[in-house]
Amino acid sequence: METVRFDRLAARSGQISRREVRGLLRMGRLTADGAVPASPEQKVREDAVVCLDGVPLNCAAARCFLLHKPAGVLSATEDRDQPTVLDLLPVELRRLGLFPAGRLDKDTTGLLLLTNDGPLAHRVISPKHRVPKVYLAEVDGVLDGRDAAAFASGIVLGDGSACLPALLELAGPSLGRVTVYEGKYHQVKRMFAALGKPVRSLHRERVGGLDLSGCPAPGDWRELDASELSSLFCP
Ligand code: URA
Repeated sequence: METVRFDRLAARSGQISRREVRGLLRMGRLTADGAVPASPEQKVREDAVVCLDGVPLNCAAARCFLLHKPAGVLSATEDRDQPTVLDLLPVELRRLGLFPAGRLDKDTTGLLLLTNDGPLAHRVISPKHRVPKVYLAEVDGVLDGRDAAAFASGIVLGDGSACLPALLELAGPSLGRVTVYEGKYHQVKRMFAALGKPVRSLHRERVGGLDLSGCPAPGDWRELDASELSSLFCP
């Protein structure tokens, strides 16, 4: 098992900063596997159970959160003028270095993953891994089987770029459930625009095997555990 400096491990929790570790150790409030380390620099096992006041901290190297993104916030880590998805999390979690795994437009609602795990984000986003993303789109105009056929054969966007074949299921006269396996800029809106049926509202219901269970309202969020993370890739 790898070892790691105690202050680094404790700070992965997001609950405390590396700078705070020394003071907390002096007070005996922090432990690794039940013992108070002699110094912040002491090497401990990477899987050591770190407790603050006897309460275990989550010190996993990589973290992933599911957010029900509301309309009106940016899928970005910071912005001078506008609220971002990170502003929806408690302050201590903002220390974790989280970023959105893919983007939803400012006016798009629904499932967004926030992680500090670069390879995980890459697997979610990359078309090579074919992680399905499912959207509910309300459009101007009436959808029919010809639209579904166009999605299935691969829509060519206004700039001439070709989309991978996608699934359009008719969910109402102007409502379509779309499954795509890639994430071009404004992709779903541009797909419908190419058919002359502009999107009025867009909501992401699902990414891989994950839906918004446990996060029914815009702004809700929760941390994903290891089994949920693996279900991302086995829908
Ligand atoms: N496609 C879009 O057009 N917008 C989104 O926010 C997501 C997918």
